[in-house]
Amino acid sequence: MKKKNIDITIDIYNENELNETERTLVHHAIAATHNSYSPYSHFSVGACVLLDDDTMVIGANQENAAYPVGLCAERSAIFAAQSQYPDKAIKAIAIAARDISGQLLSKPITPCGSCRQVILEMEQRYNNDVRILLYGKEYVYIVKTIKDLLPLSFVADDMRTH
Ligand code: THU
Repeated sequence: MKKKNIDITIDIYNENELNETERTLVHHAIAATHNSYSPYSHFSVGACVLLDDDTMVIGANQENAAYPVGLCAERSAIFAAQSQYPDKAIKAIAIAARDISGQLLSKPITPCGSCRQVILEMEQRYNNDVRILLYGKEYVYIVKTIKDLLPLSFVADDMRTH
């Protein structure tokens, strides 16, 4: 029996250590929480995607009485960006959330498994890593590629002969 260890790195920043573009991206994600439609969970999530020409596209979670039909903020932002700017690679995405009392979370949340898979598809589509900024009032996590949040992932190449 052999073992394989997988190391991932998460950088932990104070908000004031972010560069101007990243701070703006995070602030757009925070603002986007107000566009959340979340009458069922009361958990408001906002996301903002940064494209390769520095265009920013926001998204917010959208819920439905038929619960599984709803969509996370991350995929709302990514699909909106993809629909409007299919030729522009995604460089980064920022995510922020408010708890059921409307307070911004102190600690970052990380994207769900489905959103991780969609972000991975974006890395594959544009052959470009997506920087992921996860906002918390106390600190901001930065992950340099979704591959760090989705080890042993499945991509299109896996359907070709190994
Ligand atoms: N949600 C997101 O939008 N992004 C995440 O990263 C985690 C969860 C949404 C989905 C649902 O509307 C609500 O938060 C509660 O799960």
